[in-house]
Amino acid sequence: MKELSIWIAGANGKIGSALCQHLKTTDFFRVVTTDKDLDILDAQAVSDFANMNRPAVVINCVGMSDEKECEENMVEAFRVNALGARNLAVATRSINAKIIHLSTDDVFSGLKKDRLTEFDVPMPTSVYGKSKLAGENYVRELNPKHLIVRSSWIYAEAENDFLTNVLKKARAGEHIQASLDRISTPTSAEALVKFIDILLTSKEYGIYHASCEGACSRYHFAKAALGYAGLDTELVEGVLQEQGEIHTRYTILENLMMKMTGIYEMPKWETALQEYIAHMNVNG
Ligand SMILES: NC(=O)c1ccc[n+]([C@@H]2O[C@H](COP(=O)([O-])OP(=O)(O)OC[C@H]3O[C@@H](n4cnc5c(N)ncnc54)[C@H](OP(=O)(O)O)[C@@H]3O)[C@@H](O)[C@H]2O)c1
Repeated sequence: MKELSIWIAGANGKIGSALCQHLKTTDFFRVVTTDKDLDILDAQAVSDFANMNRPAVVINCVGMSDEKECEENMVEAFRVNALGARNLAVATRSINAKIIHLSTDDVFSGLKKDRLTEFDVPMPTSVYGKSKLAGENYVRELNPKHLIVRSSWIYAEAENDFLTNVLKKARAGEHIQASLDRISTPTSAEALVKFIDILLTSKEYGIYHASCEGACSRYHFAKAALGYAGLDTELVEGVLQEQGEIHTRYTILENLMMKMTGIYEMPKWETALQEYIAHMNVNG
């Protein structure tokens, strides 16, 4: 029997698709999905949709996350990442629904080498990070029944996906450049959506960090992936990407709230990656 009604906004995106795939496997949830067919910038349309469907939980997977695109179009980045989140927060509050809002390690400055907990103060430097923090703030202020889930470097089979592109290039014998000076944590969409699944029915609220355990550079991520896939690791070249004051950008999330509450345990990034590639090889 379908017990709980869920609305996934941004359902065609990388994380939205992974969530839909995962929730399809259970009988417990009745899932409604929207993407560009319901512009979350249209506050009235968002409110009408919420009122009509009356979901118990709304998961906001809508986002403008291409860093360069955000820098070049600040107004649109804030519209999608901040105003869109505001509209969903207002609509969910009005129907007493819980909102699960996806956010990012980029709300941090990149200057702190240590792992960052939910209690560290965000200080974004990029338009993307600033617009995502503005979205988080709206969600926090406008709906007390909120969960903000910050994650990093999420991979899944998708067009706009770093890992998918690395594997594709390596299979074609092409040279790959990957940065050495960005340190964070590759996170499998599968591990993330399993955690979100738990949040759907839990009584937990607030901010949660949800990255796989450990940390590496994009260069090491790409090398490890090619190694696990049995492809030529020499195709990857390490390059420096950061400019200006920051020499190496560190945004390593510590899943402290998960550990404190014991609600879930994320796998090590190497384990999750190895499993993902093994599964991909089996399924062609
Ligand atoms: N991917 C990561 O590594 C990562 C890491 C941490 C946090 N996050 C956060 O997780 C969220 C989802 O990320 P993702 O990688 O799944 O992004 P994605 O693949 O770009 O998916 C976002 C979806 O939202 C849609 N969308 C954009 N503007 C919209 C609007 N105004 N109204 C309705 N739908 C709209 C997009 O459609 P179009 O594609 O047609 O624009 C796309 O289908 C984002 O908020 C991102 O900040 C992502």
